[in-house]
Amino acid sequence: MIDDDNKLLSQTGPGTPMGEFLRRYWTAALLSSELPEPDGAPVRVRLLGEDLIAFRDSDGRVGLLEEHCSHRGASLYFGKNAEGGLRCWYHGWKYDVAGNCVDMPNEPPQTRFCDKVKHVAYPCIERNGVVWAYMGPRDRMPALPELEWLTVPSSHVYVTKCIRECHWTQGMEGDLDSIHVGFLHQDIFKNRATALNHESAKWLAANLTPEEEIAETPAGCVHATRRDIDPQNSYWKISHWFFPGLTTIPGFVGDGPLGGHAWVPVDDNHCWVFAFSWHPTRPLTAAELSGKGALAAFHAETMPGSPVTACNRSNDYAGPNAPAAAQPWMRITNVQAQDIAMTESMGTLYDRSKERLGHSDRLVARTRRRLVAAAKAVRDGAEPPGMNPKDYRQRPISMLLPRNVESWTDAIAEVTDTRPETFRASV
Ligand code: FES
Ligand SMILES: [Fe+2]
Repeated sequence: MIDDDNKLLSQTGPGTPMGEFLRRYWTAALLSSELPEPDGAPVRVRLLGEDLIAFRDSDGRVGLLEEHCSHRGASLYFGKNAEGGLRCWYHGWKYDVAGNCVDMPNEPPQTRFCDKVKHVAYPCIERNGVVWAYMGPRDRMPALPELEWLTVPSSHVYVTKCIRECHWTQGMEGDLDSIHVGFLHQDIFKNRATALNHESAKWLAANLTPEEEIAETPAGCVHATRRDIDPQNSYWKISHWFFPGLTTIPGFVGDGPLGGHAWVPVDDNHCWVFAFSWHPTRPLTAAELSGKGALAAFHAETMPGSPVTACNRSNDYAGPNAPAAAQPWMRITNVQAQDIAMTESMGTLYDRSKERLGHSDRLVARTRRRLVAAAKAVRDGAEPPGMNPKDYRQRPISMLLPRNVESWTDAIAEVTDTRPETFRASV
C-alpha cells in the first residue's frame, strides 16, 4: 500500500478519515454482563482512542459518557451512580445517559449554568448480550445491522469479549485469510479428522490449499473455499466480511452454532474481539453456553475478571500451565491462541509497506482497499456502504455443491439468507 493509504487505514482517532468513517457504524462497545444491575459500578471503556465511562442507570438504560467530567475533568469512573444518573464525585455535577447535566449543586441555581452544559454521550442499543454504541454524527445514525446473531432470540446466542494487542485490521485479517487455516491450525484439523471421523475434517486435512472464491456484496463480501472431494461434489466453506469490522465463520459439523466476530479498535494498537456463537433456530444448550467443547475453539479463554487472554505474550501464547516442548510453536495447541500468537507477534501495528502480498492474500488486500476507498469517499461527502440493515442478513455455512455448479453465489443464496426455514446443518 502507498504510505498515505497505510496511514489512513491505521488511524482511528477522532478527526482522522478512517476514525470518522468507523464512527458512521454501530460499534460493539461492551458486554451487557459488564453492567449487571441498575445503579451498579460504572466501567471504563476505551473505543477508537476515546476514553469513556459506561453505566446502567436506575431504569436499566445504558449510558456511555466521555470519561472526563465537563467541569474540570475528574474521571466519572469514580462517579456516584444513583437516582437516574452519574454524579461526578468532585463537585457533584450529575449527568443522565444522554449527557444532559441534570444537577449542578456547586453553582447558584439562578445562573442556570446546568442548562448550558452538554456532556459527550453516545447513544447505545443493547441487543443479545452486547451494548452497541453510535459515535458518529447524530443526524446520520443508521439502524442496527440485521446480523442474524442480533435478530434471533437472546437464548440462541453466546458472546464473549477479549482484548488483542494489535491493530483491529491485523486481527480481522485472520478471518479473511482462509489459507492460513491449513498451516497454522493443521495439527488440529488432522487430529479432528482422526478423532471425530468426520468426513469434512478429512477433506480439510487432505487439502490444505483449497481454491478461493470472493464475491462482493453491498455491505461487504462473501468468500469461500472449495475442495473437490469426488468426481461429482465439492466441499465449500462460506464466510462473510461486512463493513467495517464484522465477520462470519461456519459452524462445526452438524447442528451446532455458527460463528461471528466484531473487530473493534480500542485504539491504533489494540482491539476488542467480540466473538458470537448463535443458532438460527434453537436455544443454545447448557454445554454450548458454557463456551467449552467445540465452542472453546472460537471463544478465547481470558484471565478471571479480565479481558486479557490467558494465552498471551507473557507466556509465549501457550497459557500459564502449558508443558515444555522442543519448540515454542508446539506449546500452542488452541485455535484462538494460535491466531493470537500470529497476529500479535507482528507487533501491534506492522508496517504494511514491508509485506509481500501474494495471490492467497488478495482478500486481505481487497478489503484494505475497500476500507480506504470508502473512508475517502465518506470524507468527501458520500454515504458509507452498508447503511441498509438488510444487507447484513447472511449466514455462513459448510456444504456440498456439485462440481459443475454454474454460479456458486446463486447456489448458496437460499441457505445463506437468514430466514429460520432456510437453515441447514453444517457438513
Ligand atoms: S470535576 Fe466534576 S464536578 Fe467538578
Ligand atoms: Fe485462524
